[in-house]
Amino acid sequence: MTPLESSPAWKALARHHSEIEPLHLRDLFATDPHRFDRFSREACGLLMDWSKHRITDRTLALLFELARERDLEGWRDRMFAGERINWTENRAVLHVALRNRSNRPILIDGQDVMPEINAVLARMADFTARVRGGEWKGYTGRPIRDVVNIGIGGSDLGPRMVVRALRPYGEGGPRVHFVANVDATELAETLEGLDPEATLFVIASKTFTTLETLTNARSARAWLVERLGSEAAVARHFVAVSTNREAVAAFGIDIDNMFGFWEWVGGRFSLWSAIGLPIALAVGMERFEALLAGAHAMDEHFRTAPLEENLPVILGLLGLWYADFFRAPTWAVLPYDQSLELFPAWLQQTEMESNGKRVDRAGRIVSWPTSPVVWGAPGTNGQHAFFQLIHQGTQLVPADFIATARSHHPWGDHHRLLLANCLAQTEALMRGKSEAEVRRELEAEGLSGEALERLLPHKLFPGNRPTTTLLMEQLTPERLGALIALYEHKVFVQGAVWGINSFDQWGVELGKQLAGAISPELVEGRASEGHDASTRGLMEWYLRHRG
Ligand code: F6P
Repeated sequence: MTPLESSPAWKALARHHSEIEPLHLRDLFATDPHRFDRFSREACGLLMDWSKHRITDRTLALLFELARERDLEGWRDRMFAGERINWTENRAVLHVALRNRSNRPILIDGQDVMPEINAVLARMADFTARVRGGEWKGYTGRPIRDVVNIGIGGSDLGPRMVVRALRPYGEGGPRVHFVANVDATELAETLEGLDPEATLFVIASKTFTTLETLTNARSARAWLVERLGSEAAVARHFVAVSTNREAVAAFGIDIDNMFGFWEWVGGRFSLWSAIGLPIALAVGMERFEALLAGAHAMDEHFRTAPLEENLPVILGLLGLWYADFFRAPTWAVLPYDQSLELFPAWLQQTEMESNGKRVDRAGRIVSWPTSPVVWGAPGTNGQHAFFQLIHQGTQLVPADFIATARSHHPWGDHHRLLLANCLAQTEALMRGKSEAEVRRELEAEGLSGEALERLLPHKLFPGNRPTTTLLMEQLTPERLGALIALYEHKVFVQGAVWGINSFDQWGVELGKQLAGAISPELVEGRASEGHDASTRGLMEWYLRHRG
């Protein structure tokens, strides 16, 4: 594949960018009353509005051309066909098979993966019903009241975000907690007040070698055995979710209590597999299946809709437009929905671990920015914290706003106020406030002369700050599934066009290796010569102060 910069569409986009740069969104709206109709679309229960982006029809046409030149459709079809597109690990990328509710055969090396997927789903359904129904008993005969999922990264962020988001659907189920950090604070604070007789641990790790997860799992196991007085209790209180049977058995978890998945499920795309067990335990298997169905609907949309009508494609290309041509270093995701408070954290791993890459498929260093830094927090809280920078700072921060028409908590005026703020923010970011408007306002307040002129620049809003708005009727399992899949495919689109491998994560390895070397030195109480002066100095300070 030719380098991205030599693609004709890329070169045309670079030229086109200088035509777009001086245009203001306010004028684009003023001259085109149909802008919203043309630049918004509903699919899978989600309305996406991209009319408040710094684009014209020509911008989109060039972006679609670029996607075609980069064979986006070919890459997409290869993913759905089970080809080993994660070539650095020689793996297929088939999280879409996990939620393939149509059950159409999906083959890897000629073998249909659907029967295995359905078998695990059936086991999850059975186990979930037994735990939620009180039939599954702890060692002393008590039903399960609390579930603690121990995992990290993709074995934590996805299920943690979904369980939080679907809290209104949690009645009748156990309380589900999550522990990820190797800092014992998280485990200790989670276990405080839990009754070991009624607590079930789910040890979630694709590899079952992850230091944080195994350390937490060992401590949880010691906590349980000490309190229940017998090793035999482990079988009733520990289940595992993994691809590594041997390691699960070596840890002491009965293989009958293990839920499997497959190497072709990437960690950050695994919430649809048995890694979603805590979701099913929290809200029931039917709702977990509704989540899968929502994602499947988005998969079908992504797989079949023309690029021009394809929401993940449009979202992905807009991201690329700002990252590469405006050189916007970050992208904010701002859910106006408290239930989605963990969505930005989940999205950080999904986008940044996938597309935070600096070499293309051929191993050449890329000369264009890849993934921006993704960040965000729920509205309206952010408005009283970092929105100042988005409105008036020096950096361009494109942002996605996500909201629902109906709240699960329809109290008084809350939801209307929430929505009014969400819509007002995107309007304000787009329009800004011109000098003439500020001048009029200040004059109306009785200011004039030097006092007015001094204040005026501080009260100006440049506007022209791009946003996407995503609306859905209500945050249901199905809609949430579609929303998550939308962003997963956005990541795919960008990776395909950038020509990078979105599905490996070698960048996390070096730190793990070095921690593996430092840790035993801290046990021995010495910092070896091999470290640089800074690291050695810090180690020595720690050794003097650790108490
Ligand atoms: O270190 C990064 C990573 O490999 C992630 O990609 C993954 O989601 C996480 O660690 C957890 O891995 P595992 O599920 O194997 O414990």
